[in-house]
Amino acid sequence: MPTAIRLIEAKPSDLPRVLEMARRAIDAIRPGAYTARELAIWRERPAGQLEELLASGRYHLAMAGPLLLGSAGWKPGKDVDGIVRAVFVAPEAQGRRVGARLIGAIEDEMREAGLPLSRIPAALCARRFYEKLGYACERVEYGELPGGKIPFVWMSCMLGAAQRRAA
Ligand SMILES: CC(C)(COP(=O)(O)OP(=O)(O)OC[C@H]1O[C@@H](n2cnc3c(N)ncnc32)[C@H](O)[C@@H]1OP(=O)(O)O)[C@@H](O)C(=O)NCCC(=O)NCCS
Repeated sequence: MPTAIRLIEAKPSDLPRVLEMARRAIDAIRPGAYTARELAIWRERPAGQLEELLASGRYHLAMAGPLLLGSAGWKPGKDVDGIVRAVFVAPEAQGRRVGARLIGAIEDEMREAGLPLSRIPAALCARRFYEKLGYACERVEYGELPGGKIPFVWMSCMLGAAQRRAA
């Protein structure tokens, strides 16, 4: 019987294993939406943002026993929105709804925090994944990282609509 997947809150000491899994997830992306150079820039981005998320209590790990299958978190936005950050699923666990479950848990937390809108600066290669979860594209922007700029797409979803979708 496959081991049940459970979500746990990440701790700052989880940084090395999250970084390792995130890099493997990026390495598994086929060039297309991004060039090989853009993927390398993304892979080597500084870990500061992830460190902040791990310390915030709003970053979650999807575990199967001792195995880290995926991770994702969020932070409050500037207005009535929550911003989803750093969503990764290990290549060997992709396609098993680990990502959908992480996003669902984050959306529940945003609702509990009284936020009606979830927004994501989404990787171009993940656009279809978020569309399947009810998100719509707003606009493309370029993120400035050491090594160059890479494009991403702002996507958003009203959380009331997400709740109806899950029902
Ligand atoms: C994008 C990612 C998080 C998706 O995680 P996942 O666990 O494989 O996705 P799920 O199994 O929960 O998929 C949910 C739905 O989205 C679909 N989907 C997932 N990734 C997709 C993709 N790249 N293109 C099209 N559809 C996709 C699934 O088929 C599934 O559809 P269904 O509801 O019809 O069954 C994962 O592939 C990943 O880590 N990618 C590399 C890093 C990345 O791009 N992160 C996002 C940064 S914003």
